[in-house]
Amino acid sequence: TVLEARDLPSIAKYMKSDACKRVFIMNGAGISTSSGIPDFRSPDTGLYANLARLRLPYPEAVFEITFFRNNPKPFYMLAKELYPGNFRPTPAHSFLKVLDNHKLLTKCFTQNIDTLERRAGLSDDKIVEAHGSYASQRCIDCKRPYDAAKLKEKLFKEEVAHCENCKGLIKPDIVFFGESLPPLFHRSIPSLKSADLLIVMGTSLVVQPFASLVDLVPEDCPRLLINLEHVGDFGSRPNDVVHLGKCDDGVRELCRLLGWEEELEREWEK
Ligand code: OAD
Repeated sequence: TVLEARDLPSIAKYMKSDACKRVFIMNGAGISTSSGIPDFRSPDTGLYANLARLRLPYPEAVFEITFFRNNPKPFYMLAKELYPGNFRPTPAHSFLKVLDNHKLLTKCFTQNIDTLERRAGLSDDKIVEAHGSYASQRCIDCKRPYDAAKLKEKLFKEEVAHCENCKGLIKPDIVFFGESLPPLFHRSIPSLKSADLLIVMGTSLVVQPFASLVDLVPEDCPRLLINLEHVGDFGSRPNDVVHLGKCDDGVRELCRLLGWEEELEREWEK
């Protein structure tokens, strides 16, 4: 096997070796919870556990395109709370920047729409926002773009916005269930074949097609999971390492082993 043992020190040793040049990241809502943004599926604190007031048939309906078409109001009520606000990147986000400083980061595939990877200092070419973002918005029918400031105003008044061209519903370009993922996501998938290391952080790995990316790195490529709970098929490959705990603690421990501890704190304080 590539790793000496299935633990964090062995990952750190491997990262310092010449064999590890191309690191890929896959992350989800769990890397942002310490900044105050709820994740989706954690019991009690997750968004889906707290949607009773929206009177949905089931929680995911709020992000389903067919449901939205018939009843956009619940999404508009929620969109206000989800709107990227004054949230700071977490140490887990700063870890991405540190990896990049060391020329190790090839791509970060994120399911998050909070744009905190960008705020932590990663450049556009390193980020694949698999589930879109709030950076743009358009009509779900004729696809004509809609003015950002106007939508923000509507969202904050919980008023549904309609297309000025065809009266269709306006939605931020975040990917709903039933919609296809952005072309950049599909274009970026083949690069996973060249991975030397995959780090998965803060995701339940239940939403497809994103979750299946973990299978696309080479069979002997080390895969590290840093998450509160065990997810996916981690452990099924010889070079899988599962580190259970908070993302921030996990990346701090890894950085300590790499001698990057102070650099991480410096990036985080920026
Ligand atoms: P989930 O809420 O499904 O999963 C978050 C995962 O992170 C869970 O396994 C938590 O245990 C873990 N977690 C939470 N806080 C953590 C912390 N501080 N440290 C370590 N682990 C932590 O969120 P996602 O997997 O991102 O899609 O959800 C995937 C997609 O489902 C989202 O992009 C969204 C949602 O529906 C759309 O809306 C299209």
